[in-house]
Amino acid sequence: MTPLLQLRDIHAAYDEIEVLHGIDLTIAPGEVVAALGPNGAGKTTLMRVISGELEPTRGDLLVGGRRMNGAAASDLARAGLCTIPEGRGVFPNLTVRENLWMMTHRGMSRSAIEEAAYSYFPRLEDRRTQTAGTMSGGEQQMLAVARAVSTRPSLLLLDELSMGLAPLVVNELLTAVGKLADTGVAILIVEQFAEAVLKFADHAVIISHGRVTASGTSALIREELRNAYLGTA
Ligand SMILES: Nc1ncnc2c1ncn2[C@@H]1O[C@H](COP(=O)(O)OP(=O)(O)O)[C@@H](O)[C@H]1O
Ligand SMILES: [Mg+2]
Repeated sequence: MTPLLQLRDIHAAYDEIEVLHGIDLTIAPGEVVAALGPNGAGKTTLMRVISGELEPTRGDLLVGGRRMNGAAASDLARAGLCTIPEGRGVFPNLTVRENLWMMTHRGMSRSAIEEAAYSYFPRLEDRRTQTAGTMSGGEQQMLAVARAVSTRPSLLLLDELSMGLAPLVVNELLTAVGKLADTGVAILIVEQFAEAVLKFADHAVIISHGRVTASGTSALIREELRNAYLGTA
């Protein structure tokens, strides 16, 4: 099976300063991959490279087997890529429904989009006429995920989904993400050292100083993290 996303020796820089020093990563359709690493490791930069916001200085970005280096973000979106950036990306002054309706440019009707969104997050239906900015952080993040789902992505990138949220809410969000993966969507989720994510990931990598320093099953990465914490690595 052709991987949905394949990164080969990806390097990226801001001005002259290189921050990604050769990242390799592969995600198959229906697979959830977690990329964990400390603040400043290069996780968001990696997201920017994949979404076409930042052109890699070296290496290959392949989506569905096609080399997409230098492609515009809009071309990558057309190839099925959808990003939920750090800090959500819902329109706080619009209602839940209006936030969802904005996705109709993807060719789905308003009612179809709402139906899809509420099937993942029933709670949003009760809140459909509420202004998004007045909801809790968790509910806003649900709305962000629901908006992404309505674009019928083939690859979904989630940057720090769990930031500032209670464990129970994080669990609810990740359950929905897992459900989405079951429909064949490939998912990359980057987080600081949030172990909760590992339970939902098929495999995981640790990114540190712009490099993949460990890669393997969630169980293996959990072990790596524990050892790192205990200083026995
Ligand atoms: N727009 C930018 N301009 C210059 N340097 C940046 C920019 N964004 C991030 N960096 C630097 O790149 C490195 C990686 O940052 P980032 O990808 O945001 O890490 P993470 O998401 O893992 O916290 C950091 O050293 C950061 O200071
Ligand atoms: Mg970041």
